Amino acid sequence: MSLQFSPETKQRFDALVTRYPQKKAALLPALWMAQEEFGGWLSPEALTYVAGLLDLPPSKAYSVASFYTMYNLKPVGKYKIEVCRTLSCAMAGAFEIIDHLEAKLGVHLGETTPDGKFTLATQECLAACGYAPMCQVNGKQYHEHLTPAKVDELLASLP
Ligand code: FES
Repeated sequence: MSLQFSPETKQRFDALVTRYPQKKAALLPALWMAQEEFGGWLSPEALTYVAGLLDLPPSKAYSVASFYTMYNLKPVGKYKIEVCRTLSCAMAGAFEIIDHLEAKLGVHLGETTPDGKFTLATQECLAACGYAPMCQVNGKQYHEHLTPAKVDELLASLP
C-alpha cells in the first residue's frame, strides 16, 4: 500500500494509541490525523490504511467516518464553509445566509466551487447560538452575527 503517514505523523499516531486501553479506541483521532495528512479528506485508501493500523476492518472506519460530519469522504475546497442550520441560527436567518452563499459562490450545499476554493455545507448546532446566525470555516474559525454583507467580507478575506 502506497499511502502512509509521514514519519512525524506516525510518531504522533504511535503516541496516541498508548493513551487508550485498546488501540481501536483511537479511531476518531486517528481518522482526524489521516484527514489532515491526506489532503483534507478520507479516501477509501486512507480509511483502509487507518483501519489496518488499528486492526479494524475497513468497514468500521467507514461507518464511523460517515457518521460524523467533521470527516470528509470526498475532496473539499481550500475553505469548507459550514453554516449552522439548527433552530437558533435558522430563526436568525441561516437559510438566507445559505441562499446568499449559494448565489455568491455558484454552488449548492455539498458542492465545491470549480476552482477548488470553497466547499459549502451545513452543520448542526456549533454551540454559538447566542451569536446566530453563524458559520465555521475549516472546522476552526467561527464567524458570527452573519449578514449578507458580512458574508461578502468573509469571502473576500479568504485568500
Ligand atoms: Fe446555531 Fe446553536 S443553533 S450555533
